[in-house]
Amino acid sequence: MPIGVALIGAGLFARLVYLPAIDATSEIELRAVYSRSLKSAQSVAPDRDLARYADDADQDLAAMLDRSDITAVIIAVPIVLTAKFVRIALDAGKHVLSEKPIAKDIAEATTLLQWYRSSGVSQRANWSVAENWRYWKSLNYARDQLAALGRIHQLRVQVNMDCRPGFYMWSFFEGSTWRRHPEHQGGTLLDCGVHFAASLRHLLRSDRVTRIAAFASAASDKLPPLDTLDAIFQTEAGTQGVFQLSLTSNLHGTGWEIVGDNGSISVMDATGTVENTTVTTRFKDRDPEVRPIPIEGLGVPDEVLDWGKALATGEWNDRQRPEEALADLELMELMFQSSAEQGMPKVPVHQVVDGSQ
Ligand SMILES: *[C@@H]1O[C@H](CO)[C@@H](O)[C@H](O)[C@H]1NC(C)=O
Ligand SMILES: *[C@@H]1O[C@H](CO)[C@@H](O)[C@H](O)[C@H]1NC(C)=O
Ligand SMILES: *[C@@H]1O[C@H](CO)[C@@H](O)[C@H](O)[C@H]1NC(C)=O
Repeated sequence: MPIGVALIGAGLFARLVYLPAIDATSEIELRAVYSRSLKSAQSVAPDRDLARYADDADQDLAAMLDRSDITAVIIAVPIVLTAKFVRIALDAGKHVLSEKPIAKDIAEATTLLQWYRSSGVSQRANWSVAENWRYWKSLNYARDQLAALGRIHQLRVQVNMDCRPGFYMWSFFEGSTWRRHPEHQGGTLLDCGVHFAASLRHLLRSDRVTRIAAFASAASDKLPPLDTLDAIFQTEAGTQGVFQLSLTSNLHGTGWEIVGDNGSISVMDATGTVENTTVTTRFKDRDPEVRPIPIEGLGVPDEVLDWGKALATGEWNDRQRPEEALADLELMELMFQSSAEQGMPKVPVHQVVDGSQ
């Protein structure tokens, strides 16, 4: 018998990405959907016989969380509401997979984490935070090759996306008031950028950012408050690098470039708008290798599969620990703070995560 799960949130990502990923995971089965309005709750797989819960329906969220045949929930709601729903669901004893970022800011995230770790809640239910970039196949392939580079000198994270009206990414904004009129810091720069902060940390493994400075600005009035960011950073092991993010750029080349003693690795076209990401390795004494790696559902199917297996076996993957997500958010928040102070360098304090590798 598969484990019963429910969705909290019925937006575009829940419908287009989570639903097929849940369906592809045999360990779990979607039984219910909660959203603020019944109309929205009914928009997820409308032709299926799922239980629908809403604030304007007979059955509300409390009724859904009361069900003993629902063991776990996936939370995909606007960023400023995430922490509230995570707390309610964990308090009800449900395992949680919540969307990134972990919360709207570090203050909210650390308060929630402290409550989770110290109040006995984590003995009853496990909290995982979704970060699909840690399941991005091409990124993981590059990560596995890093040891062959020897000491790493330089690391570049570059993100070019055009999210303005008329371009592909705008579809995610069109029906989404919280994205077009964000209440969260950085707006889309946080929503999108936190994935790439995660990717940077994933590549660094046990190394960590020790200093970061940034400038950020708005090139368009459609993506408030900020859509363009340039940062430089330094790591404990002495790697330096840049983190560039533009949401108004039609340049190709979103990805990562890493330079080490024995060569370089580049991972290009990692936005999800093309079929393959291309990983190119150029090692001393070896022929260059160019390898296309399919993107496959933005990594979300593997991520949900991992979570479903953890629910079934009780063995939880460190990649989904909330402390990892806190460290991702911290990098973004420090970049925004640095930018607000004309590029003043910032020193992270949440980058050492137990169990990360
Ligand atoms: C939560 O995950 C930890 C491993 O991270 C595990 O030891 C613990 O048993 C899990 N708790 C529950 C309630 O499943
Ligand atoms: C880097 O290249 C040198 C010379 O070819 C080799 O001795 C060394 O093992 C390589 N380092 C790694 C980490 O592969
Ligand atoms: C994507 O890569 C696969 C091999 O992994 C290849 O068969 C396919 O033709 C590539 N698609 C494009 C559009 O290049």
